[in-house]
Amino acid sequence: MPAHWLPNRWGQDWTALVDVEGLNIDGYLKEKGPEFIVKQGEEFYISLGFPQLPETFYVKSSLYPVDADAGYKKNNHASAWHMDYDKDVRSLMSVEPNTEWWGTVLHELGHIYYYSTYSTPQIPLILRNGANRGYHEAMGSLIGLASLQKSFLQGRGMVDKNAKVDEAQLLMREALDYIVHIPWGAGVMTHFENELYAKNLSPDLMNQEWWSLVKKYQGIVPPSNRDDKYCDAATKTHIVNDPAQYYDYSISNVLLFMFHKHISDKILKQDSHNTNYWGSKATGDFLKSLMETGATEDWRTHLKKHLGSEMSAKAMLDYFSPLMKYLKEQNKGRNYTLPEKI
Ligand code: ASP
Ligand code: SER
Ligand code: ZN
Repeated sequence: MPAHWLPNRWGQDWTALVDVEGLNIDGYLKEKGPEFIVKQGEEFYISLGFPQLPETFYVKSSLYPVDADAGYKKNNHASAWHMDYDKDVRSLMSVEPNTEWWGTVLHELGHIYYYSTYSTPQIPLILRNGANRGYHEAMGSLIGLASLQKSFLQGRGMVDKNAKVDEAQLLMREALDYIVHIPWGAGVMTHFENELYAKNLSPDLMNQEWWSLVKKYQGIVPPSNRDDKYCDAATKTHIVNDPAQYYDYSISNVLLFMFHKHISDKILKQDSHNTNYWGSKATGDFLKSLMETGATEDWRTHLKKHLGSEMSAKAMLDYFSPLMKYLKEQNKGRNYTLPEKI
C-alpha cells in the first residue's frame, strides 16, 4: 500500500479506510469541543468507581494545542506523567475534537488512574509501576475500545439509538487499529531499534533499513524513493524519547482483549462486540484489582491469578473470528500478498 493512502504517516492505524455508518462520532465531538472530551473521559472512569482527578491534574497538565505565538513549541504527541511517584499526575496532550483524540484521552487517563491506584502506602515507591509495561498501555486502550462500541455510544446518546450498524465494518475498523498495529509495533519499530542499538546501524543506511522493514512487516511503500540523507524513523516520537519499548503496545493489544473478554463474559455478561462499560462498578473493581499491586507481583502470576490463564492471543482471535470468516468469503479465489508468517 502506498504510504500516502493513509492519513497516519507511519501506517500504524488504518482505520481511515472504513467509515462505519451510524457510529461516526466526529461531528458530535466537534460540536462539544476538546474540554468536553477530557471531562467526559474523567466521567467515564468515575462511573466505573475511580475517583475524580486531583485539582493539580488540571492546573499542571498541558492538555490543549499551544497558540502559534506562544513563544514555545510542544511535542503534540500525548503522554502521561507520574511526577513524584505519588499524587502528582499530569498529562501532556494537544486535544482536538475528533475520534482519535477521544481514544487518546482515554488512553492517557488509563495511565493516570493506574499511577493513582498503585500509589498507596502498601506499594514501595520503586514498585509503583505497571505489572509490566504492556499492562500500563493496555488499561486506557481497553477503555478506548469499549468507548467506541455501539451500546456504549447509544447509551451515552453519542449516536442515534436506532442506528443500523454493519457489524462486519465495525469489526473491520477495530482490526485496522488493534491488529494492524502489531506488525508495526512488534515488527518495524522493534526491528529497527534492534538494528540501531544492537547492530550499530550506520546513519547512511538508516532510511534504507527503515523502509525495507516497513515493506516487509506492514506491506507499505513510500510515495517516492526516500533519500539516504534522511532518517524517516526519527519522525516517530518513541524512537527519540522512548527507546526500545515500542513492543509494549503490541503486548498491550493482546492483553487488553484478554481483559475485555473477562469483563464482557464474566462481569457484564454482554456480547464482547457490543458492550457498555459505563457505570459498571464491578468492571472498575476488576480494573483496580489489576492495578493496585503495581509491580509487586510477577506479571505472569498476576495474570493467572486474575484471569485464570497465561498471556495468549486466543481472546483476540476469538473476538475477530467473525471478521476472519467474512474476509475469507469476500476474498475467495484471491491471493493475499502479506505472509501469515515471516
Ligand atoms: N501516547 C500514546 C502512545 O504513544 C497515545 C497516542 O498518542 O496515541 O501510546
Ligand atoms: N500511542 C502510540 C503511538 O502513537 C501507540 O499507538 O505510536
Ligand atoms: Zn500510553
